[in-house]
Amino acid sequence: MTIFARIAGTGSYLPEKVLTNADLEKLVDTSDEWIVSRSGIRERHLVGDGQTTSDMAVEAAKKAMEAAGVDASELELIIVGTTTPDFIFPSTACLVQNRLGALGCAAFDVNAACSGFLFGLTVADKFIRSGSVKTALVIGAESLTRMLDWSDRNTCVLFGDGAGAVVLKADSETGILSTHLHADGSKKDLLHCPVGVSAGFNEGEKNAGVRVLMTGSDVFKYAVKALDSVVEETLAANGLDRHAIDWLIPHQANLRIIEATAKRLDMPMERVIVTVHKHGNTSSGSVPLALDEAVRSGKVQRGQLLLLEAFGGGFTWGAALLRY
Ligand code: ACO
Repeated sequence: MTIFARIAGTGSYLPEKVLTNADLEKLVDTSDEWIVSRSGIRERHLVGDGQTTSDMAVEAAKKAMEAAGVDASELELIIVGTTTPDFIFPSTACLVQNRLGALGCAAFDVNAACSGFLFGLTVADKFIRSGSVKTALVIGAESLTRMLDWSDRNTCVLFGDGAGAVVLKADSETGILSTHLHADGSKKDLLHCPVGVSAGFNEGEKNAGVRVLMTGSDVFKYAVKALDSVVEETLAANGLDRHAIDWLIPHQANLRIIEATAKRLDMPMERVIVTVHKHGNTSSGSVPLALDEAVRSGKVQRGQLLLLEAFGGGFTWGAALLRY
């Protein structure tokens, strides 16, 4: 019997504090008109003082577990996609595991920048399909605004904080049909945060401070091409026509990138889940946040075919096709 990983429940969490484009106009030389026309973003949520990535991850996880009717003792695997962990170690997944009371199960982080959730989902899918585990929790959680340079208008207007989660369960009914992951490390300098244990953390040391550096227009062009390609790859791998997809649930970095992928799929925007105007780019949090909103709003129904995709620093990118 073929085993599939099926989404049994979704959850998400957004911190209380909201930063609007009008607020940003007071910080840097920008305008609501520029931000909306270039990115589609109108506002974003910001982690509160003392609030951490793992705090948000736990809230999203609890909601997903409640929706799935799964108790902490049933979890056999916890994966957190994040590029903004609370600590270098222990992993955010270990912190989450402890807070949920799921001690003993495997728990680790995946760092694939904005594609972290899709990479984590893929790993969990393989664990379930191979029969190694029956129940897995996959989270995408980020507090990226903590590493923004609030004087750099090229980046500070684009990002937000939040977390999303799914509980996957082994099922004989179809769930995740295929996943497709890619990376291109040669483009690392176009989007990076070049500090760390080896590079050093201090201002002026090799590179300046903990902050996101991005050559936006080059990232944009590469992202559109990479996402086009992985969407085609996913359809071909499943022998599907592009019109078969019920919902596109894309990474929420830029409305124009989302529209380009929708056009490629010949999908009307009514079949695309868009949250970027409210959330900004929440990196690994973006896809599971959008998925949870789509599920809880009643848009996405059981049995429908969903295409998830993401692109991020590395570069990394990927897609997952699943029957919800
Ligand atoms: N307000 C006003 N003007 C601005 C701002 C701002 N906030 N930011 C930049 N500008 C200016 C630039 O300085 C430039 O001015 P110049 O022409 O005088 O030099 C002008 O606006 C145009 O800048 P571009 O970079 O060409 O604008 P573009 O249309 O490419 O849009 C954007 C910029 C929104 C950043 C876009 O390129 C983008 O979304 N890129 C992809 C981001 C992405 O997908 N990242 C991946 C995931 S992130 C992760 O993994 C962590």
